[in-house]
Order: sequence, then structure tokens, then C-alpha cells
Amino acid sequence: STNQSWGGRFSEPTDAFVARFTASVDFDRRLALHDIQGSRAHATMLARVGVLTEDERDAILGGLDEVAAEIEDGRFEWSVALEDVHMNIEARLTEKIGITGKKLHTGRSRNDQVATDIRLFLRDEIDTVAAELARLREGLIELADREADTIMPGFTHLQTAQPVTFGHHLLAWQEMLARDHERLLDCRKRVNVLPLGAAALAGTTYPIDRHVTAELLGFERPAENSLDAVSDRDFAIEFTSFASLLLMHLSRMSEELVLWTSAQFDFIDLPDRFCTGSSIMPQKKNPDVPELVRGKSGRVYGHLMSLLTLMKSQPLAYNKDNQEDKEPLFDTVTTVQDCLKAFADMVPAIEAKADNMFEAARKGFSTATDLADYLVRRGVAFRDAHEIVGQSVAHGLREGKDLSEMSLEELQGFSSAIDEDVFEVLTLEGSVAARQHIGGTAPDQVRAAAQRAREALTAL
Ligand code: ARG
Repeated sequence: STNQSWGGRFSEPTDAFVARFTASVDFDRRLALHDIQGSRAHATMLARVGVLTEDERDAILGGLDEVAAEIEDGRFEWSVALEDVHMNIEARLTEKIGITGKKLHTGRSRNDQVATDIRLFLRDEIDTVAAELARLREGLIELADREADTIMPGFTHLQTAQPVTFGHHLLAWQEMLARDHERLLDCRKRVNVLPLGAAALAGTTYPIDRHVTAELLGFERPAENSLDAVSDRDFAIEFTSFASLLLMHLSRMSEELVLWTSAQFDFIDLPDRFCTGSSIMPQKKNPDVPELVRGKSGRVYGHLMSLLTLMKSQPLAYNKDNQEDKEPLFDTVTTVQDCLKAFADMVPAIEAKADNMFEAARKGFSTATDLADYLVRRGVAFRDAHEIVGQSVAHGLREGKDLSEMSLEELQGFSSAIDEDVFEVLTLEGSVAARQHIGGTAPDQVRAAAQRAREALTAL
């Protein structure tokens, strides 16, 4: 049999393989409830402008409620022969309420319908993602506040550079996520625009009121141009770009968590419930969750590339290519939500091993810059100070001592500008406390930054 919703002009049935190849219902059923939400608004608007009677509208709304209930209870029978989620739902509605069901599609096309469904879907998912992102940021801020005094080595080139506080490091992560959060909320504005009314591509001859539909669906406004409305998926690409940047950040955090849980660093402990063991090595406790999050970045970058490539050569307006937007977008949504949940659950449970962090910072001559700055305050030119401290470090390496472990006489052997008070700047506590400005690592600054971050988060 030819397809019931467009078979009129066809003289032979669709090839069985082609029917399966072109069908999308196996994946686009994820849009089902948003499809119904869109249809409800469309029918309501059609009645408002007199294209449907109030009785027809009520029959449609009642029927759609029943269909929604069947879908939610898992009773709905999806048919590949009916191609996609839209025609499955419309066919079921018509089975239930008869000919009135066939009036729902008045003034509408699947082209503006699917574009609307994806936007409704993505808007809801963005709200879920935003809530998880906020929960993760909150966890980081609280942990940073608790660890504002904990000293660790800061790194450049993964070599010990200068001491920082663990809280400061965590707030660096928080800043990365704050920017991702902004990008997400900005993307939401462009998602939140109504395509419905564009119909297939040119608009419709019915006296529709797109402002009514937009308002019913909570969209900011109707899309300005019907060709653009059915065609572009840049909003999905934008979300996937956000997701790629977020996963890039989560991957960097993951990398550090993996390093820090190793026996060689031993800076933190992740509770057992976030780790797994080895089937052969009984002693192993592996940081699988951060490793997997690091790995998941790959598929999200892949989806970004898929969507960009999908869109790039399409002529206006709608093309069937766009059916391929769904799987990458859906998988991006799921991946982002899972990774954020994993991190938001795990971060508050991170246990800092403060003694190990401190010891590691003490070992790497991390206060060498402080000694140079001290000499500059005492009138030595910075380049000369750099050389003097370099020689002191070389001496420390030979003797196996840190700068703070040298005697005053030893240090004075390198510069007569050095005095008793040098030891105040050579301690790790002195070093971090001296970075006393906005954006600096001093514990006071970290606590103040945590407070500002908390306020910025609640102001969103
Ligand atoms: N399943 C299609 C999609 O995902 C729905 C729109 C199809 N429109 C059409 N004229 N074939 O894009």
C-alpha cells in the first residue's frame, strides 16, 4: 500500500528497503511528547482564528491527551511504515477521533513541525543541563571554600612552579564552567524561537496567528523568515559547540583527577563508589568515572563535526538531510547530562590529602620566585635576583634541601642582601598569603572569590 499521508500521487508502493531507510521513528520517537505539545498549541491557535471549530479543537486535544498517555505508559505501538514520530502520532489520533484528526495538520507541514519539536525538546534539555551545571559549580565552590588554606604545588609544563591553594585550583575549574554556563544560557535564547507557521517553506494561506502559538509554547517570538525557520539547525550546532567546550573542560578536570589519584601524586582520594577494580590485579582502584568523562569528549566533538557537515551545503529550504540532525543531538544531550551528573555527584566527595599536597609543594623549590621578589624589594635588579636564586636552587639540589631548609649563612653566601626575615617569604604559607589581590591564590582571596562565585550563581 502507498503511504496514507502522502500516497495520493504515487502509483506503486514504497520499496521495502527505502521505507526502512527513510524512516526515522526508531530515534525521533524521543520527540513524541514535544510533538504533542506543539500540536496542542497549533490546534488551539487554529480554533482561536476560526480555522477549526471549538468542538474540533476539543476532540483533538482530548485525543492527543490519550495518545500522550499511551506513549508515557509504553502502550503506544510505533510503526516504521508510518515513517516518523509525527505521522505515527497523527495516525493514532485519527484512529481515535476519526476525521477531525485529519484536520490537525491544516496550515502546517512536517518541516515546521519537526523544527518546532526539536526546539521544544532542546529547550527542556537545556534547562536540565543548566540545573546540573549549577549543581556542579555549587559543589566546586563549597569544596574550594573548605580547601582555601590547603597548599599544593601549582604547575606549568606539569613541573612544580609556585605554591597555590587547592581552593584556588578548584575555583579555576569553576570559572571555566561559569563561561560554559553563560554560553548555554545564551544559546537557549536562539533556541527559543517558534518555527511553526512557516509550513513547508513559504508560510500558509490560512489566517494563522503565530504570536498566539509562540505564546502558548513559551517561545520568545515567531521566527522571522519561513525559509530559514524550516531549514537551519544552527541552534543545534550551537548547543553541540557549547557541549564540546564543556566536555573539553570536564576532560581537563578529569585528567587532573586521574593524575592526583595516582600513587605518584597521591593528592586526593575518590570514594570507592566512584571507582572500579581490576579483574586481575586485586590491589587496583581505578578512577573510571573521570577517565570515561575524558573519553566521552571524543564523541561530542564528533557530533559537532557531523552537524556542521550535515548543514554546510544544504540549499534552502528544508532537505531530508536534516533528519540526520537528531541522533547526534540526542547523544550529545545524553552524554552531557550523564557527564555533568557524574561530576556533580563526585566533586563534593573529593577528599584532599593536604599533607601530601603540602609535601609535594615543599619539594619542588616552589618558593624560588618569592626569594627573587624578596631580593628585588631589597634593591637587587630582577635579572640578578633570578641568577642568585638559580644558584641557590642548584646548591639545594646538590645538598638535597629546599630553600627554606638552608641556614641564613648558607643563603647569605649567595647574596648579602638576604636577612633573617627571608624565611617569612620562603615558607609555602607566606608565599600564597602574599598573592593578595583579586584573582590571586591567597586564602583570603579564595574565600572572597568563592563568595562572589556563589552570588553570581544565585543571580542567574
Ligand atoms: N522526519 C523528518 C525529519 O526528521 C520530518 C520532516 C520530514 N519532512 C518531509 N517533507 N519529508 O526531518
